[in-house]
Amino acid sequence: MENPLRHGHFMEQINFSQEERDTVYRVIHARRDMRHFIGGEVDGEALARILDAAHAAPSVGYMQPWRFVRVTSNALRESFITLVEAEKDKTSDQMDERKAEFMRLKIEGIRDCAELIAVVLAPDDGTVFGRRTMPEEMALCSVSCAIENMWLAARSENLGMGWVSFFEPKDVADLLHCPEGAKPIALLCLGPVKAFYDKPMLETEGWRSREAMSVVLGDNQYPDS
Ligand SMILES: Cc1cc2nc3c(=O)[nH]c(=O)nc-3n(C[C@H](O)[C@H](O)[C@H](O)COP(=O)(O)O)c2cc1C
Repeated sequence: MENPLRHGHFMEQINFSQEERDTVYRVIHARRDMRHFIGGEVDGEALARILDAAHAAPSVGYMQPWRFVRVTSNALRESFITLVEAEKDKTSDQMDERKAEFMRLKIEGIRDCAELIAVVLAPDDGTVFGRRTMPEEMALCSVSCAIENMWLAARSENLGMGWVSFFEPKDVADLLHCPEGAKPIALLCLGPVKAFYDKPMLETEGWRSREAMSVVLGDNQYPDS
């Protein structure tokens, strides 16, 4: 019989215990998008572990198209707050009956979070592997995988994280001196929180609720709802 190890390097078999498995699912379900922070700071080693988790994410063709910028300048943080507030107003202009309700929602915690990290999609490096038909989407999906890893790692470190996407990417790119073709996709607020929301905040606020599994899962064909 052919030796499967011949084709690569395999880890010695690791079977996770039931307890470890339970912890993974607990972290997944306890993760929340956080907008309420209490200042303080993020321990340097914890931050390094969270960034390592990001950089360990899967990526199409192994292209690793994520770039992270730690925002330590208060002036820069203020500039982002201004951009996000402007975008919130523009967003509300496109809403009709739910405009007032939307404006009452807290959509970011930039001012109070301990760490602010911008995530940028790197300029296209021409990778074809796995992205011939959907080049931008597959690169973006890869960066999203990195962000989800950070979210889960942060939660396991008992730190909150919030993804802020209310901004004009060009404005953020200019502020961060990004090269041509780079596209900021997230401003991540990270840091200690007083408590984690028990449900998505948008659900508690009555904005939207989680769809039933039957809406999102189909057998052999697109699910009908
Ligand atoms: C791509 C992406 C962009 C998001 N941008 C924002 C944002 O700008 N502001 C915000 O309050 N939440 C943002 N969120 C968080 C979602 O609102 C949140 O994930 C959703 O309401 C479900 O809540 P949960 O993450 O706590 O489960 C974003 C989430 C994703 C995945």
